[in-house]
Amino acid sequence: MPYPYQIHSLEQYHEAYRKSVENPQAFWLDIASHFQWKKAPDSEVLQWNFKEPKVEWFKNAQLNITENCIDRHLEKNGDKVAFIWEPNNPNEESIQITYRELHQRVSLMANVLKNNDVKKGDRVIIYMGMVPELLIAVLACARIGAIHSVIFGGFSAKSIVDRINDTQASIVITQDAAYRGNKETPLKKIMDEALMAIDFIKKSIVLKHTGSPINMQIGRDVWWHDEIEKVKSFPACEVETMNAEDPLFILYTSGSTGKPKGVVHTCAGYMVFSTYSFVNVFQYQPNEIFFCTADIGWITGHTYTIYAPLCAGATVLMFEGTPTYPNAGRFWDIVEKHRVNILYTAPTAIRSLMSYGDEFLKGKDLSSLTKLGSVGEPINEDAWIWFHEKIGRKKCSIVDTWWQTETGACMISNLAGVTPEKPSYATLPLPGIQPVLMDEDGKIIEGSDAASFTLPKETIKGNLCIQFPWPSIIRTTYRDHERCRLTYFSTYKDLYFTGDGCFRDTEGNYRITGRVDDVLNVSGHRIGTAEVENAIDSSDIVIESAVVGYPHDIKGQGIYAFIILASHIQNPDLNAIEHHILNRVTENIGAIAKPDKIQFVSGLPKTRSGKIMRRILRKIAEGEVHQIGDTHSILNPEVLDEIMKGMK
Ligand code: WTA
Repeated sequence: MPYPYQIHSLEQYHEAYRKSVENPQAFWLDIASHFQWKKAPDSEVLQWNFKEPKVEWFKNAQLNITENCIDRHLEKNGDKVAFIWEPNNPNEESIQITYRELHQRVSLMANVLKNNDVKKGDRVIIYMGMVPELLIAVLACARIGAIHSVIFGGFSAKSIVDRINDTQASIVITQDAAYRGNKETPLKKIMDEALMAIDFIKKSIVLKHTGSPINMQIGRDVWWHDEIEKVKSFPACEVETMNAEDPLFILYTSGSTGKPKGVVHTCAGYMVFSTYSFVNVFQYQPNEIFFCTADIGWITGHTYTIYAPLCAGATVLMFEGTPTYPNAGRFWDIVEKHRVNILYTAPTAIRSLMSYGDEFLKGKDLSSLTKLGSVGEPINEDAWIWFHEKIGRKKCSIVDTWWQTETGACMISNLAGVTPEKPSYATLPLPGIQPVLMDEDGKIIEGSDAASFTLPKETIKGNLCIQFPWPSIIRTTYRDHERCRLTYFSTYKDLYFTGDGCFRDTEGNYRITGRVDDVLNVSGHRIGTAEVENAIDSSDIVIESAVVGYPHDIKGQGIYAFIILASHIQNPDLNAIEHHILNRVTENIGAIAKPDKIQFVSGLPKTRSGKIMRRILRKIAEGEVHQIGDTHSILNPEVLDEIMKGMK
């Protein structure tokens, strides 16, 4: 049996869940025993408190995650394909890389990093497209114990500057440009712009991918291929021995206030839980081909395109392009061409492809698919049904996986074909996950505690928290532990607060309804309203702005910005101003954060203490003007009429 910890029946699920609650230490120690360690975990399995917070899993153990992702498979499965790369352009050849080749290539790149003075614990910024070298760069960092921080290729130079400053990285890895559909993003140029504001980056390793002309700064910029040439004769790079709790990576994510924060995951716990979740949620069988459509710049790509499938010795498919290039049948072409068995994607992609009708499905052979997965936002019933009927041909299980950057891996999800599925419900917690629902007064809603093994008599609703640590829980926010405490561990005493609202039905199934804080989920991308407001307010023709979300058919949520312009602007050309504001947002954050609707207003509804009443603006943006509710506490009720009249 390749995965002794794979759950095969509902009964086994309940048994595993019970064990994981009754004796979490013994439960996880047993699962950890199926990984490769430099020094095996001992009886000190878990130390924790959510007050500071401090969580340590397998504290005394030592390992290297890449030994588990690569080296461990060489003897028996060296010739197995580790990953298939499908290029943006369907007329170009796809690439298959075996575990043995992956070993060689990661080892070479790891030697390149060492040769450029990168040491264990150093931070490495990676700003690349979805090319094989991105996966190789990530694993090369992990192999030598450097902490990678991947920046999604859609982020702007300013966003890069913030992340480089926060990580204090010494080196960046980038590429000339990235293809996405019919667009080419000049990554190197954007990185150059960012580096003008930073003086401590000594090296930039540049991959030649598109061949587009770029400037190379002598002394700083070096070509990936030249650097590889220099280490060709070096002995293979052995793995660095890491302590279980050494950081593995930093990934920035948006919250309700301030700039994005660097979520830190550590080596052992992340490896154990992410692999456990992969094998169980997707019921992965050796020889299946797993296609995760997420970009590696997000947590889903980190966990389910790289670490978990490779630790499980799987074959993973990585795709450079977009679902609609050259047409909306691209995913189905890829499924057919590579005989994909498991497709893991996002509701926004499903809704977008659904909107093209069935034309692009005609003649596509999807018979290899056995399991489908959804992640990133609530999946509405229509999308679920389309996915089930048209893509799954009513034969595939669908897993609706709820989790977050901070949780590292899937937390609440059905296990494909093993535990029951229910459209628009993420369903049951994975073993080891102990959710509770909290009411507005900070009390546990009776009957909502999964670990009590009692079921409520009616559906309940509350804020979703987790009351016990799991191995891949966020350890800190980089260089600002207090922010980690305040954001996740201070709202409710001794609980991790997810920021999501949630229902639990009488069978114990969870249905996540979305964020209850000021975080938007636009096409599955997390964007803080404060970030967008700051970007808009950075324009000197803006006095103030307020940004809220509203339901959007394809994106899930759209961005609605209410903006007060400076009074010195006479006869404003609103189209030009809108354009200017959208540019501001693109420059400060990236095109993904551009508002879908902009409304210029003369004032914003405020409380007597001067706080913007977002609840009201949200209702207006949602088009629910009749449900605005109590407006007594508004300081300036006269603006409401005007805002409602000008509603977009
Ligand atoms: C939302 C993505 C409903 C949720 C892995 C969460 C979901 C945020 C689901 C995290 C789901 C993710 N159903 N909502 N299956 N999956 N979410 O950090 O609001 O990019 O808090 O991690 O996405 O987004 P993040």
